[in-house]
Amino acid sequence: MVQSPAPSLMTAMAVFAAALLLLLHPSNAQLSANFYATTCPNVSSIVQTVIQQALQSDPRITASLLRLHFHDCFVDGCDGSLLLDNSANITSEKDAAPNANSTRGFDMVDSIKSAIESSCPGTVSCADILAIGAQASVVLSGGPSWTVLLGRRDCLTANQAGANTLTPSPFDPLANLTSKFSAVGLDTTDLVTLSGAHTFGRAQCRTSSPRLYNFTSNGGPDPTINSSYLTTLQQLCPQNGNGTVLANLDPSTPNTFDNYYANLQNNQGLLLSDQELFSTTDAATISIVNSFSGNQSVFFQNFAQSMINMGNISPLTGTNGEIRSNCRKVNGS
Ligand code: HEM
Ligand SMILES: *[C@@H]1O[C@H](CO)[C@@H](O)[C@H](O)[C@H]1NC(C)=O
Ligand SMILES: *[C@@H]1O[C@H](CO)[C@@H](O)[C@H](O)[C@H]1NC(C)=O
Ligand SMILES: *[C@@H]1O[C@H](CO)[C@@H](O)[C@H](O)[C@H]1NC(C)=O
Ligand SMILES: *[C@@H]1O[C@H](CO)[C@@H](O)[C@H](O)[C@H]1NC(C)=O
Ligand SMILES: *[C@@H]1O[C@H](CO)[C@@H](O)[C@H](O)[C@H]1NC(C)=O
Ligand SMILES: *[C@@H]1O[C@H](CO)[C@@H](O)[C@H](O)[C@H]1NC(C)=O
Ligand SMILES: *[C@@H]1O[C@H](CO)[C@@H](O)[C@H](O)[C@H]1NC(C)=O
Ligand SMILES: *[C@@H]1O[C@H](CO)[C@@H](O)[C@H](O)[C@H]1NC(C)=O
Repeated sequence: MVQSPAPSLMTAMAVFAAALLLLLHPSNAQLSANFYATTCPNVSSIVQTVIQQALQSDPRITASLLRLHFHDCFVDGCDGSLLLDNSANITSEKDAAPNANSTRGFDMVDSIKSAIESSCPGTVSCADILAIGAQASVVLSGGPSWTVLLGRRDCLTANQAGANTLTPSPFDPLANLTSKFSAVGLDTTDLVTLSGAHTFGRAQCRTSSPRLYNFTSNGGPDPTINSSYLTTLQQLCPQNGNGTVLANLDPSTPNTFDNYYANLQNNQGLLLSDQELFSTTDAATISIVNSFSGNQSVFFQNFAQSMINMGNISPLTGTNGEIRSNCRKVNGS
């Protein structure tokens, strides 16, 4: 008969095995809430102060900043790749179809970066600025708070082709949205939850117009759209009109981070990708929409968790990457 090891030895082996697992899977293990506790203790309040100031003259800025973190994280992880401008070595993600003439707030990121640099030079990554900026933006707009995990570093390259293929499209069928989320480790609950970010901000007519005209095989609009909402949208976004005109993603409270799921139940989702969460026959997403619509605190709790999940996508940590001094450029270029 083989004798079991003594309990203390088993504990030691378990600790060793856990340590080994951490070494083998360092990806999010190294992000931490107190990463800048000694090197830049005031970083969160600096970010919040700059955004609060900007919000006085630009009620959309919080929505725009939240979206930047999403578009950064879905392309090779939350590594600041989205922020790099074109240069000799960089083909910018800003020119990819989901971002071109659409993502905004880059000047605000520069302002936040320079405010941080004057307190704590060379310390806080641009990738972390996007993560802190997303949380501050949601809180300043009335949404939930969460503890932002920090310690991301900035990448040295951009991936424009990836920005085109990995970023979800408003015209994607639900199965494609699910698979794009799944590809970065996010599940169906994360998909429904994070789509709730469309409780504020704007979308251009070009992102919804195809639903308003000639959508079905016999030439009509998307039959799912609420008829009074359809009339409103057709007035705002005439056929072959100016595709850059802006529509509110949430018609009733356009600048507040509250709860947009009742819009989906009323067939007033602006983007096809949003409405599909509720209107796709037998989809697993329907019951999640219903539960969030019925209870804002359940949505808020889930949103906080899903933002942490999204922020954990493949960060660069340790000595990988760098701390950029200018979010638009790789150091020394
Ligand atoms: C589920 C897949 C998603 C799709 C297909 C999608 C698509 C879009 C589109 C087409 C726009 C309008 C862009 C324009 O017209 O210029 C938009 C805006 C926005 N998106 Fe999403 N999105 C998705 C998920 C997310 C997530 C996960 C977040 C953040 C957690 C987010 C946050 C926002 C915000 C806040 C805006 C408004 C931005 C502004 O006003 O500047 N979206 N989204
Ligand atoms: C932290 O930053 C805020 C906003 O910039 C400022 O009001 C406050 O005085 C700062 N506190 C410290 C200890 O530096
Ligand atoms: C962005 O807008 C500019 C100016 O209207 C236009 O020339 C350019 O083609 C647009 N780019 C994309 C990708 O839509
Ligand atoms: C959805 O994904 C399938 C399989 O990858 C692809 O063939 C199809 O073109 C995608 N649909 C859209 C609208 O992107
Ligand atoms: C409607 O769409 C169909 C198929 O895409 C196309 O053949 C037709 O020309 C379009 N009709 C109009 C009025 O745009
Ligand atoms: C389209 O609308 C945008 C914003 O509403 C405006 O800035 C732009 O000048 C318009 N373009 C044309 C060609 O009317
Ligand atoms: C259309 O929206 C209104 C609220 O504006 C709602 O009362 C009605 O039930 C909706 N209709 C459908 C078919 O969803
Ligand atoms: C919402 O959900 C929370 C947490 O599950 C629960 O404590 C609360 O009673 C619910 N509120 C309503 C109005 O159902
Ligand atoms: C481009 O990359 C090469 C090799 O990494 C480097 O030597 C060069 O300085 C870079 N040029 C610019 C403009 O960044």
